Amino acid sequence: MAGVTGSIFEGATASPADPDAPTLHAQLVVFARELGELYRQERARSRELEHVLEHLQETYFATMRTLAQVVEAKDLTTRGHLDRTQAYGIALARMIDATLVESPETGYGFFLHDIGKVGIPESILCKAGPLDETEWEVMRRHPTIGAQIVEPIRFLGNAVETIRHHHERFDGTGYPCGLRGGEIPIAARVFAVADSFDAMTSDRPYRGALPVEWALLQIEEGAGGQFDPEIVDAFLVLADAGELELNVNAG
Ligand SMILES: [Fe+2]
Repeated sequence: MAGVTGSIFEGATASPADPDAPTLHAQLVVFARELGELYRQERARSRELEHVLEHLQETYFATMRTLAQVVEAKDLTTRGHLDRTQAYGIALARMIDATLVESPETGYGFFLHDIGKVGIPESILCKAGPLDETEWEVMRRHPTIGAQIVEPIRFLGNAVETIRHHHERFDGTGYPCGLRGGEIPIAARVFAVADSFDAMTSDRPYRGALPVEWALLQIEEGAGGQFDPEIVDAFLVLADAGELELNVNAG
């Protein structure tokens, strides 16, 4: 061991006849200090990396948000739809399962739900009249396109499932996968109610906004068919509490 320069055990083999040889204790103290310094440096580096990652996530989401707003801006009559549906969706999610709103992924999914419409031709997206069957076929691709757009962005997590499944129906007749009941991710089931309510109570290229009372009746009648009955009940409670009227036609 005598030839291993710098070993922390060097002192253990030093001759007791050499009074200048560092003791094992002294070498351990130096070693511990060096380890402490390394740890502090690593912590600082780790904090720096976390900061960079946070910044990167913000930039990614800002880009996605801009893309979603580009879709919204194509049709002036849907202006405010993203903010309203997100507000309804979050209020509703809080009533169904508070842990849903603790995850930012829920809000990301709500806000980016229609991002796949960037892949739908404007002639269909902005058509001033009802779509024919061929056009609907194209329009129904937007949840899959949206999921493909956000899938590589890992920090969006479960948001991709909300985007992919926001047009599924509780009775299994929705798209793109025809999922039924509990097979549909909970955030997508919540969002489907919020999205439909806002679609009915907003102006569309081919009709004006429908009355809130009428929209609520449609939601109620859709329980078990288009919508999860438990979520419909919660939505009607929100409506009774006046939580929705504040946002209707605000966009
Ligand atoms: Fe959609």
